[in-house]
Amino acid sequence: MHKKIANSYSPTKPHGQGLVVPVRALHAGYREQILRHFLQLNEEDRRLRFGTHTPDEVVHHYVHHINFNKDTVLGSFDGELNLIGMAHLAYLPKVDGQPYAAEFGVSVLPEGRGQGIGTALLERAAMHSRNTRIETLFVHCLANNRPMMHLAQKAGMQVEYAYGDADAYLKLPPANTGTIVQEAANEQWGDFDYALKQNLKRSNNAWLWFLGKPRLAS
Ligand SMILES: CC(C)(COP(=O)(O)OP(=O)(O)OC[C@H]1O[C@@H](n2cnc3c(N)ncnc32)[C@H](O)[C@@H]1OP(=O)(O)O)[C@@H](O)C(=O)NCCC(=O)NCCS
Repeated sequence: MHKKIANSYSPTKPHGQGLVVPVRALHAGYREQILRHFLQLNEEDRRLRFGTHTPDEVVHHYVHHINFNKDTVLGSFDGELNLIGMAHLAYLPKVDGQPYAAEFGVSVLPEGRGQGIGTALLERAAMHSRNTRIETLFVHCLANNRPMMHLAQKAGMQVEYAYGDADAYLKLPPANTGTIVQEAANEQWGDFDYALKQNLKRSNNAWLWFLGKPRLAS
């Protein structure tokens, strides 16, 4: 029951893969960047992400309605502070007698794929879920979504198939001191990485201004 992801947060493994790819929790101030991220996904990627054809207006509606007070949104940034990967952890309503659950959705822009960003977002989401008393983490995906299925299975998720869809779920053990400390360390690492990239971007822009060249997009 306690699968790979859950066990990887043991205090005996303080440098899990989640520390390699920095991940930050995003607040409502990132809504515009989140929107830009989704609008950069092509039609097929949006279908894989949302499970259905998702035109721009639906993306706008979805992003506009993300409740940052209730849910958790995680992001990974490239060297120019573009939101290269993001995950939405949506807490499902508590049902009496059922385990407390959350649903995980993730997307990584094509240029960032295959570098462990999706894995890091899933690991961080699973750890945050544990630390917020979630007992089951769900991912709903199309059964032919091979990278996501691979990611889910690598994380030790159980997968159930039905009518071309697949529901992957992970039973999470309760939080412990190790998971809480590790999430705090992950958050600090994410903030540190972001601050470094921000400073680098500022100094690059200063040089570009000095050389009379166009500045990097904000
Ligand atoms: C699914 C997705 C988030 C993965 O992101 P990522 O940053 O590339 O993920 P990672 O780099 O951590 O891992 C990808 C894994 O899939 C594997 N993979 C890639 N293409 C694959 C394929 N066609 N078949 C099987 N495995 C595949 C990679 O080898 C890698 O595995 P490894 O770490 O064991 O080598 C990304 O492909 C994506 O955004 N897809 C569109 C949206 C989507 O499908 N979202 C999921 C539904 S919620």
